[in-house]
Amino acid sequence: MGDEPRRSRSTEGFFGRRHGKTIRPQQASALAQGLDMRRLDLGVAAPQDLRDLFPVPVAAVTLEIGFGGGEHLLSEAAAHPDIGFIGIEPFVNGMAKMMMALDRQPLPNIRVYDDDAMRVLDWLPPGSVDAIELLYPDPWPKKRHWKRRFVGPANLDRFARVLRHGGAFRFASDVDTYVNWTLLHCASHGGFEWLAKTAGDWHDAYEGWPGTRYEAKALREGRRPAYLRFVRTGNPPSPAHSPLTDQ
Ligand SMILES: C[S@@+](CC[C@H](N)C(=O)[O-])C[C@H]1O[C@@H](n2cnc3c(N)ncnc32)[C@H](O)[C@@H]1O
Repeated sequence: MGDEPRRSRSTEGFFGRRHGKTIRPQQASALAQGLDMRRLDLGVAAPQDLRDLFPVPVAAVTLEIGFGGGEHLLSEAAAHPDIGFIGIEPFVNGMAKMMMALDRQPLPNIRVYDDDAMRVLDWLPPGSVDAIELLYPDPWPKKRHWKRRFVGPANLDRFARVLRHGGAFRFASDVDTYVNWTLLHCASHGGFEWLAKTAGDWHDAYEGWPGTRYEAKALREGRRPAYLRFVRTGNPPSPAHSPLTDQ
């Protein structure tokens, strides 16, 4: 990976690391070939029916933002061959790991994007996605960094635009302030309904949950994750009317 592609990458909503340990030649070749085959081309218009992005028939499309090492995405895509998954991860080592795994198990229902998820969200047609998963997003625990959090009025507007009515938004985190932040922002947005009725509804992981690397770390360190489930409802209020817009 030279410097040039990195400089041309968008950074509007991505504040994390692009690179970790130097990737081995075998990973580099899996990465290059995998991206060639599976990377979304945002230079052309998105198909009106997103299911056309996949070389196999799929009934629905799910977006996973920031898949990290890809444990959850791989497990979900293998368990649900009838769902198309778009996995987004700007961290090169995470994407390389995913492509090595896809070399071993070439799941045709996975497409990827290796830059800021906001670019994909802005590219997608309205109401085209059935579910969005944001699992252990970067927590930005210091208050002065909260504006960097992926959840906020602008990205909830993006989610509301691309999710079909009745579509799901799932958010998991082990960071209490981020969980509360997300509940408040979704409530204030008006386009999402939180589905919890009892404590179990946010303490229990999602059905078929395989875990993720960040979750394993949180559990080892004694933190208890929350698994929020929202459904896309109604229309969002104008951001100007949202009490949290200016936070
Ligand atoms: C704390 S890690 C969690 C990874 C994985 N979901 C897990 O649970 O193990 C957050 C991930 O989100 C990715 N990320 C951060 N900002 C992003 C953005 N704007 N678009 C897409 N991914 C992003 C980071 O590169 C990182 O891999």
